[in-house]
Amino acid sequence: MIPRQSLVRVAGALGVTIVVFWLLLSNIPAVSPQSWHSFGKSAKARDLLDDIRNHTLGFEQVFVLGLPERTDRRDAMTLSTALSGISFQFINGVLGDSISDKAIPKESKHKKISPGALGCWRGHMNVLQEIVRNNISTALILEDDADWDVRIRQQLHDLALSSQALTQPLAGRNSYADTSYRYRQPAKKSPDGIINLDFNNLPQTSPVTFSPYGDEWDLLWLGHCGMQMPPADGSLPKGRVVSKDDETVPAKKHLLSYVKPYTLKDEYPDHSRVVHHAYEGLCLLAYAVTQKGAQELLREIALKDPTTPVDILMRWFCNAERGRRHHNCLAIQPPIFNPHRTRGPKEDTSNIDSKWSGWWDTAETRMTRWSVRLNADKIIAGEEMEDQFPDK
Ligand SMILES: *[C@@H]1O[C@H](CO)[C@@H](O)[C@H](O)[C@H]1NC(C)=O
Ligand SMILES: *[C@@H]1O[C@H](CO)[C@@H](O)[C@H](O)[C@H]1NC(C)=O
Repeated sequence: MIPRQSLVRVAGALGVTIVVFWLLLSNIPAVSPQSWHSFGKSAKARDLLDDIRNHTLGFEQVFVLGLPERTDRRDAMTLSTALSGISFQFINGVLGDSISDKAIPKESKHKKISPGALGCWRGHMNVLQEIVRNNISTALILEDDADWDVRIRQQLHDLALSSQALTQPLAGRNSYADTSYRYRQPAKKSPDGIINLDFNNLPQTSPVTFSPYGDEWDLLWLGHCGMQMPPADGSLPKGRVVSKDDETVPAKKHLLSYVKPYTLKDEYPDHSRVVHHAYEGLCLLAYAVTQKGAQELLREIALKDPTTPVDILMRWFCNAERGRRHHNCLAIQPPIFNPHRTRGPKEDTSNIDSKWSGWWDTAETRMTRWSVRLNADKIIAGEEMEDQFPDK
């Protein structure tokens, strides 16, 4: 497990440089195959959680998707990942106009989406293709304007414990803490409605052997601009892991969602973070997939008519909607990744629609307290982090 206390103390005191911070996180030696054998299964499970400290955040690879001509974003992403000790590969985004019409799967009533949306769809499909072709077990995919908190490994560690609680069988049992959960099947009826699990008192689940985030997920939706929690009467599992005192979550007055109802804000206390099955997601800033998940996405999204922007296709994939089967998508609110908006002309913010004019006076990353982008100067100078969303 990540030494959370010490991490918090060190980060909190941060007169210390990021180098020290990083050493703390990364300098635990990798587990040798030998120690795996000698400690057996439960040691292996602990080791997998430790992998979240590695250079790819406990995924096999990290990809950043963006248009090659946005060199400004590549510079910024290169700096942010370096400051967080993350290694990644760029994947070139695609301009819609360059896509052959014959290469777009069609239904009989085919209606073309905008070139911007089409290019965005194709870019994501190219990343998935890369993952499947190279048999990558798990991958994190970021769009090139993503930003995150300096404490990202602590957040991902908590996410991993939460997703394990929702999708790993209870230790020594054949059942799950979320009694409505079934893998890639419509949820079981839940007489108790929503199932809230307290993050500080999670049940013991069987050790993971595949990924620190669990053994049977398809997709983790980690950067979005809104999401619903599955309702008690729908076909998605009803479990929620609730952490009520997450110091990285801003107070409710700073929370934003383009999807309503905003259950996180309406029903949970300040500084809550909730992990649940993804439902009605919007915007695709960051997500992780497994090899199985990427294969399913190729089948359900690449090889079917892109009748709507890719984030909505992803929503259908996770909702099991419009002919898509049930998949195992988990989401987190507030999201771990949020879009960074630089200071400068508004029309530069989006590659898709440049209908905005005017000027942003300040740079901003929504809902991210110790934003890496906004703290880059301080991280480099070894100064204390600036909280973008202080309580008072
Ligand atoms: C990080 O951990 C993941 C999960 O165990 C693993 O697949 C990946 O290869 C590791 N990455 C690095 C750079 O060690
Ligand atoms: C892909 O990787 C998995 C597990 O690492 C392995 O079992 C499988 O044989 C590989 N498939 C191919 C086509 O290499």
